[in-house]
Amino acid sequence: MSLDALKREAAARAVAIVQPGMRLGLGTGSTAKHFVDLLAERVRGGLSIVGVPTSEATRAQAQALGVPLTTLDETPQLDLTVDGADELDGRLRLIKGGGAAHLREKIVANASRRMIVIADETKRVETLGRFPLPLEVVTFGLGATRIAIGKALAASGCAGELTIRKRQDGSVVLTDSGNLVLDAALGRIPDPDDLAARLDAIPGLVEHGLFIGLANAAILATASGIEIIG
Ligand code: 5RP
Repeated sequence: MSLDALKREAAARAVAIVQPGMRLGLGTGSTAKHFVDLLAERVRGGLSIVGVPTSEATRAQAQALGVPLTTLDETPQLDLTVDGADELDGRLRLIKGGGAAHLREKIVANASRRMIVIADETKRVETLGRFPLPLEVVTFGLGATRIAIGKALAASGCAGELTIRKRQDGSVVLTDSGNLVLDAALGRIPDPDDLAARLDAIPGLVEHGLFIGLANAAILATASGIEIIG
């Protein structure tokens, strides 16, 4: 089975959990895209739900498919967020932000009673950090913010290059909130909780991609079937 087929399997399992009347957080990325696709099929079949998208890309997809949308201003408390991840460990700690959407994804997950991660088996790791950690930063004071990030990384036992995320054509990636993304190539993060707390304290760093204590369960699609964590 292809990786994409595994992603769709995980998404299908999550869609089956959705109950009528739920207020949903809709994630971003290729796995979440399958979820929105399959959710739209249920909506067309009569399921009544409302969703808050975590990115403009997801908003456009959901709108095009006729999934009813709301905002966190109108609907500040959600029942369930379903989202993908770039990495997850056995304690349901995540790295997110490969799609530069982790700021909105974290706000939406934090407003939800439950967060379920959907992913193919390649996302599961023993130790977080193989995937470069996304850091959304404002342009003002970038030099000083980079130094503060470097100190936080060192204090938490991490080391690695910080690179401004660019597209293949060389243009700089801006998030939906108009900020830059620095990717921190760390290899391994020995203490994700400690690093998250240190990064939380840096003013120019709007949000980092470590999701700690937010996910309640993960649906992992493997070649031999679905595995549930949590
Ligand atoms: C976007 C994210 C995505 O959830 C993450 O990048 C996983 O994406 P995919 O399902 O395409 O592998 O965090 O910011």
